[in-house]
Amino acid sequence: MAPRRKKIYEGKAKILYEGPEPGTLIQYFKDDSTEIPAHRKASIEGKGVLNNRLSEFFMQGLTNIGVPNHFIRRVNMREQLIRQVEIIPLEVIVRNFAAGNIAKRLGLEEGTPLPRPIVEYSYKSDDLGDPMVSEEYIVAFGWANQQDLDDIVALALRVNDFLSGVFYGVGIKLVDFKIEIGRIWDGDFMRLIVADEISPDCCRLWDVKTGEKLDRDAMRQQGAGPMADPYTEVARRLGVLPTNVGHGGKPTLIN
Ligand code: TYD
Repeated sequence: MAPRRKKIYEGKAKILYEGPEPGTLIQYFKDDSTEIPAHRKASIEGKGVLNNRLSEFFMQGLTNIGVPNHFIRRVNMREQLIRQVEIIPLEVIVRNFAAGNIAKRLGLEEGTPLPRPIVEYSYKSDDLGDPMVSEEYIVAFGWANQQDLDDIVALALRVNDFLSGVFYGVGIKLVDFKIEIGRIWDGDFMRLIVADEISPDCCRLWDVKTGEKLDRDAMRQQGAGPMADPYTEVARRLGVLPTNVGHGGKPTLIN
């Protein structure tokens, strides 16, 4: 029997294992979600499989347009090989339309277009509920310096343009999303790259025509029933459903 891999970290939706070579990790996508109310099912059958595929799709797309990220290759239905990074303890959020926290804080109607994409940060801490922090906090506490922040904003805005375009092409509005950024070293030289995952778990996605939610908010509201449906719909439109991949699967254009 193959030796058990060493578990490096287990989070809400993913597990990280030691990779086959130094500087690599295996990222395993679970079905679990904290977005589902406790009295309902705590996991969504197939969500991990879809998010593994979707994150692969977006990260590869980013690689193709020159945005550095952690993805190396998919290993199987639930696992992908990634570069090991040192995660900056921030949720980097980009908003195109008002929803969630910004709508609440500023009393904006959900869906209001923002004057320009807005980048903001939350400190990664489950215990504290990921509190919003300013650049001042980030630099003062040494989580990143000003140069890092300039690079992070540049990366976040490129990811935003890429994702907004890809989603819009299949009739989906990218309202907001969060990414995480990691550090890698080439000798003494440090670079920042996109890490973690890009999936409907970390985006707000609304159908362009109907406004229907196709993201974790939909999961929160739906709870029971055919749970993976919103995510399946996103994967179907993008042409990345498992059955399509490797068989010339193409995005479905929504007219
Ligand atoms: P935000 O409106 O700040 O919080 P909430 O979703 O709790 O109302 O979230 C903005 C976007 O960032 C949204 O698409 C969800 C995503 N996000 C995460 O995926 N994880 C997080 O820890 C946070 C704070 C946001």
